[in-house]
Amino acid sequence: MKNVIYYFTGTGNSLAIAKKIAAALGECELVPLSSLTAAQKIAPVADRVGIVCPVYFLGLPLMVAEFAGRFDRSQAGYTFAVVTYGGSGSEPTLRQLDAAMKKQDSRGLDAGFSVKMPGNYILMYDPLSKETCDNLFAAAKQQLAEIVSVIGKSEHKPLPRSLAGSLIHTIAYPWFVSHARTKSREFTVSDACTSCGTCAAICPADNIELVEGRPVWKDRCEVCVGCIQLCPAQAIQAGPKTAQRSRYHNPEIALAELKKTRQ
Ligand SMILES: Cc1cc2nc3c(=O)[nH]c(=O)nc-3n(C[C@H](O)[C@H](O)[C@H](O)COP(=O)(O)O)c2cc1C
Repeated sequence: MKNVIYYFTGTGNSLAIAKKIAAALGECELVPLSSLTAAQKIAPVADRVGIVCPVYFLGLPLMVAEFAGRFDRSQAGYTFAVVTYGGSGSEPTLRQLDAAMKKQDSRGLDAGFSVKMPGNYILMYDPLSKETCDNLFAAAKQQLAEIVSVIGKSEHKPLPRSLAGSLIHTIAYPWFVSHARTKSREFTVSDACTSCGTCAAICPADNIELVEGRPVWKDRCEVCVGCIQLCPAQAIQAGPKTAQRSRYHNPEIALAELKKTRQ
């Protein structure tokens, strides 16, 4: 059985989940979406193809939405998606992915799942305590066993539905789409910057260039907040509130693994 999992991650939650599913399935190729060029054909030949990504504003990260729009599943067998999220909005996200895939091929997703992980949107809130994160990781571990059992048998699973989620999606997601690319214009770097280049190396959108040792953001931000969360000097801020907030990234994912996601 050949398996392929495409993933998008900012702070490692989705990569941690993708890696666990890959390990449980065996014979699985893990492909970062950030490694695909815009011109590249996406037509995996595999028995099972999965997509793992976070929920952004009750919808898909832009890069994932674009990927879904050009995903050719004609040579893929079973398809599944797992979205990681911090609070709510997984249902409309899975449905958005399914609808985008159905525009290419009427089959859409065979199964969709959501896994609650620590929320990472530092622009809006403080990170959770270590204890709360550990509880979420323990719950996710149990849930993953069930998810892998369904995927392992290539079982069909109806996508979850939330009327409230769909309604909020129709309001919040268009706002995200229209603001995301330029969101990094709000990002600043302080004198604490050591010019280490971590921000540029981990950016999945290749949106950061070092100019005279300092990050300069272009206008293709995904708002993954990886640059803010993973800066070793905590030198990157977005507005006045992030300086007081501590940083989060998934503890199971090494910085080097996030760096690999860049082309
Ligand atoms: C821009 C942005 C928007 C987000 N929107 C939502 C949301 O609508 N609902 C939710 O539950 N979590 C939301 N989150 C939290 C992430 O979905 C969650 O922390 C996810 O696990 C992060 O995955 P990653 O570590 O792979 O990047 C958002 C995070 C970011 C950065």
